[in-house]
Amino acid sequence: MNRKIGLIPGTGKQSKGIALRLAKAGYSVILGSRTKEKAVLAAKELSEKIPKVQFIGESNEEVVKKCNLLFFAVPYQNMADTIEKLKPFLQPETILVDVIVPLIFQAGIASCSDEVPNNSVSEYLQTLVPEGITVVGGFKTISASKLNKIDEPLNVDLFLTGDNKEAKQEIKEILSKITGLRPLDAGPLSFSRTTEQMTALVINLNKLNKLKHGSFRIITS
Ligand SMILES: NC(=O)c1ccc[n+]([C@@H]2O[C@H](COP(=O)([O-])OP(=O)(O)OC[C@H]3O[C@@H](n4cnc5c(N)ncnc54)[C@H](OP(=O)(O)O)[C@@H]3O)[C@@H](O)[C@H]2O)c1
Repeated sequence: MNRKIGLIPGTGKQSKGIALRLAKAGYSVILGSRTKEKAVLAAKELSEKIPKVQFIGESNEEVVKKCNLLFFAVPYQNMADTIEKLKPFLQPETILVDVIVPLIFQAGIASCSDEVPNNSVSEYLQTLVPEGITVVGGFKTISASKLNKIDEPLNVDLFLTGDNKEAKQEIKEILSKITGLRPLDAGPLSFSRTTEQMTALVINLNKLNKLKHGSFRIITS
C-alpha cells in the first residue's frame, strides 16, 4: 500500500527526532500541530538541519486527512482528547504508530502510571479508534535526544508491538531504511506494556549509573 507519512504532532522532541530520521532515510513527512503556525516553524527548523529535504507543516487535522501512516506522540494525558477530535478525519486503513509512554516520576525514579485502562497505552488507543485503524507500538524505548543527534549513528533496536502482522511488517520495512535502526517484532499489542515499562527502566539505568544515552540492543551470538 502507498503510505503517506505524518506526525501528530511533529513539533515535540520525540516526533522531531523521528521526522529527521525518516527524512534522512528518504521519506517525505508532514508535521502536525494544534496550530498550523507552530508546525510550519518546526518544518523550517528541520529543513535547516537537512537542507535537501523540504518538511511540510500543517494542522493536526490536515495531517490526518492527508496521511495514512501516522506517528502519534502527544503527552499521555492528552491522548484520549486528541484522538477523539481527530477521529472523524482518519483515513480508512490508517496505521497509527503509538510512541506514547505514560511516564510518572516519584522521588526522581521513573515508572509507568498504573491508571492506564486496557493494560497499556497502545491497547487503550486501539479501543479509541474506529474499526479498520491499526495501532502498532513503536519508538517507545528510544530517546528523543538520541534520535535528534542526526550526525551520530543510532545503533539501536526498535521494538514493534501489534496484533496485525501485516501492519507490523509494513512498518518494519519502512523503518529498516533508517540507518542504524533495527526494527524487531516484539509480539502482540499487549506487549506494549512491557516496552512502556522498558522505557522507564532505561531512564532509571541511565540516571542511576550515569550512562550517556543508554538504549536497548539485543545481542546475538
Ligand atoms: N522525549 C522522549 O525521549 C520520548 C521517548 C519515548 C516516547 N516519548 C513519548 O512521546 C510523546 C511526546 O514526548 P515529547 O518528549 O516529544 O514531548 P514534548 O516535546 O513536550 O512535545 C509534545 C507535543 O505534544 C503537543 N501537546 C502538548 N500539549 C498538548 C495538549 N494539551 N493536547 C494535544 N497536544 C499537546 C505539543 O504539540 P503542539 O503544541 O504543536 O500541538 C507538543 O509539541 C510522549 O507521549 C512521550 O511519552 C518521548
